[in-house]
Amino acid sequence: MENLTIDWTNLGFDYIKTDLRYISVWENGEWDNGVLIKDNTLCIEEGSPALHYGQQCFEGLKAYRTKSGEIQLFRPDENAKRLNNSANRLLMPEVPIEKFIDACKQVVKANERFVPPYGTGATLYLRPFLIGVGDNIGLKPANKFIFSVFCIPVGPYFKGGMKPFNFMISDYDRAAPKGTGAAKVGGNYAGSLIAQKKAKEKGYADAIFLDPATHTKIEEVGSANFFGITANNEFITPLSPSILPSITKYSLLEIARDYFDMKVIEGDVNISDLDKFIEAGACGTAAVITPIGGIEYNGNLHVFHSTKDVGPITKKLYDTLIGIQFGDIPAPKGWIYTV
Ligand code: PLP
Ligand code: COI
Repeated sequence: MENLTIDWTNLGFDYIKTDLRYISVWENGEWDNGVLIKDNTLCIEEGSPALHYGQQCFEGLKAYRTKSGEIQLFRPDENAKRLNNSANRLLMPEVPIEKFIDACKQVVKANERFVPPYGTGATLYLRPFLIGVGDNIGLKPANKFIFSVFCIPVGPYFKGGMKPFNFMISDYDRAAPKGTGAAKVGGNYAGSLIAQKKAKEKGYADAIFLDPATHTKIEEVGSANFFGITANNEFITPLSPSILPSITKYSLLEIARDYFDMKVIEGDVNISDLDKFIEAGACGTAAVITPIGGIEYNGNLHVFHSTKDVGPITKKLYDTLIGIQFGDIPAPKGWIYTV
């Protein structure tokens, strides 16, 4: 085993091959026990429905090294439930919650040397995924499935870390009103790549999508949910059947309400009504809280707090969230799983 030469404080969000990954197969109505393997390649049938018809879904969660050197997961049960919602939407078998959490813990333990040290800000990102495989060609669900979890040490998703980024409203839709927007399925992401490319070409960090039915309301960023903060101490975030229910967002709703006495609202965020927000942000496992400096819409950049400095409310929400995740601040009951 080679020695690690990772510069923990300068990690981005890039693939790094770690030592072991978990893999389990579902066939004839049941899951096998699952094993840890060294090989980071998958050998699957050419007719696999995951390859042709997008019968696949995935998750993202992180392991955190605490000050005392322990390792903990943040709300993995919620990721397990969301994976199963995605699986149900695409007619795939559920992964039992205990199996999901056990697989995550096994992968973290087996790759412990890749869990970044406390104080570097970096974390170990876990990527569970479920794919339909087997010999197939007609449009129908697979009869064999693979559930796998691998991990990579990561730093900030948006390069530069905790500073404001500008985003651009996209002309494209990420999801359809009764489509798969609320499921974490690859097709949503493949469809959003062109919007991301166009946003990046114009110098923006990423695209923000409007609701596919009326194109009047903010839905979410391609990789994170949206929130805004008003001068009346309100934390407002879109409610829509076609956005991904972000575990970070639901955690922030509780933090804003219970730690900072804010009024929390899930509702419409009209694109014509951005003036009411004094701060805004994108939130997610990879994005953590990424402050939104401004949003470009129809050629105008609407600036919230500032394109240079992080707003004070965003900052205190961020500090509390990562404080809980790294074990510096007591967590609400059930949020932390020790590995
Ligand atoms: N929205 C999309 C489209 C995402 O890909 C993600 C990332 O998982 C999120 C929101 C944030 O969800 P979570 O906070 O559960 O990571
Ligand atoms: C995550 O935040 O876990 C995600 O899955 C977002 C992804 C685009 C990196």
